[in-house]
Amino acid sequence: MKGIILHGGHGTRLRPLTHTGPKQLLPIANKPMSEYCLNTLKDAGVSEIAIIIGGIASNKVQEYYGNGKKFGVNITYVLQDEPLGIAHAINLCKNFINNDKFIVFLGDNIIKKDILNYRKEFEKSEFDASILLCEVDNPSQFGIAVLNVDGSIKKIMEKPKEPPTNLAVTGIYFLTPKIFDIISRLKPSWRNELEITDALQMLLEEGNKIGYYMITDYWKDTGTPNDIIHANKVILENMESYFKGIKEEDVTIEGNLMVGENTIIKKGCKIIGPVIIGKNCIIGPNAIIGKNTSIGDNSEISKCHIEDSIIMNGCKIKSEIKIKNSIIAFNSEIDQSNSEEKVFLLGEGTKISL
Ligand code: G1P
Repeated sequence: MKGIILHGGHGTRLRPLTHTGPKQLLPIANKPMSEYCLNTLKDAGVSEIAIIIGGIASNKVQEYYGNGKKFGVNITYVLQDEPLGIAHAINLCKNFINNDKFIVFLGDNIIKKDILNYRKEFEKSEFDASILLCEVDNPSQFGIAVLNVDGSIKKIMEKPKEPPTNLAVTGIYFLTPKIFDIISRLKPSWRNELEITDALQMLLEEGNKIGYYMITDYWKDTGTPNDIIHANKVILENMESYFKGIKEEDVTIEGNLMVGENTIIKKGCKIIGPVIIGKNCIIGPNAIIGKNTSIGDNSEISKCHIEDSIIMNGCKIKSEIKIKNSIIAFNSEIDQSNSEEKVFLLGEGTKISL
């Protein structure tokens, strides 16, 4: 079975983080979020993967994943030059998929569960599509499924204003080539996109059957900064400790800590896991790195207290401040100012609370 990962779009709700690259490359626990999708597909035995790129700096996706060899898969890139929807993107892969059943994964969706058994069941089943559903508190922001009394799927709709259920259709779709004929007859929605939910609804209306599985542990569509911070926490909570760096004396460590090569934790630091720190970092002296924090490679962090945050590669934070619920993008610097006056050099759309 082949797989498709959607890696395009403009990530507008994540600006300014997405001014310089696709949102699916934003790191969660020091790995691009789309790498979790790729690994989930790989663990389900899917090694032929098309990645659909488009939007800002999509070349960064190719630079990172290359031909996929490093990640144990074969990658084909497909360009979607206009953001015309998920169904449109899937249709671009018609030749790549050929005649087999396949799996589509939205590159900004994070799940904890592996999908190997779902894949096997779908492969054997008579279903023309199968979806993963998850109960949510904010159903008007997602595709929604309505069930019949016998539990089968009755209707699928995109972001209804008054959702009849709280069953969100997650961004992981098990499909058959039948979907291509459906998509070729689909009309664009109000947002000028070919919606996957409309394609699934048409499939139902034409007498085909759609199966589903319920996700009961964890699913996140990482549309907003808070979603990313939450996914970071969940991924960190499930990681096992390792320490490849150097630790000076008088360092306190509680909870799970993952530290990469050549990273030095200097004296007087306190780390309360789960925390991941990449390679070649200098932490401290006297920094407190609190729970649910990810610090990328080549960063220098001292004096401050950070928790529930993501600090990307190459950041320098050397100031007596407490940082919480924050995302600080690649190569940013926060220094100590010696006066009451603060100095800023902010990129477009930056957000600061003082
Ligand atoms: C898309 C789908 C929606 C689905 C969601 C899952 O929404 O259209 O049906 O519930 O992904 O992440 P979008 O992110 O395009 O708003």
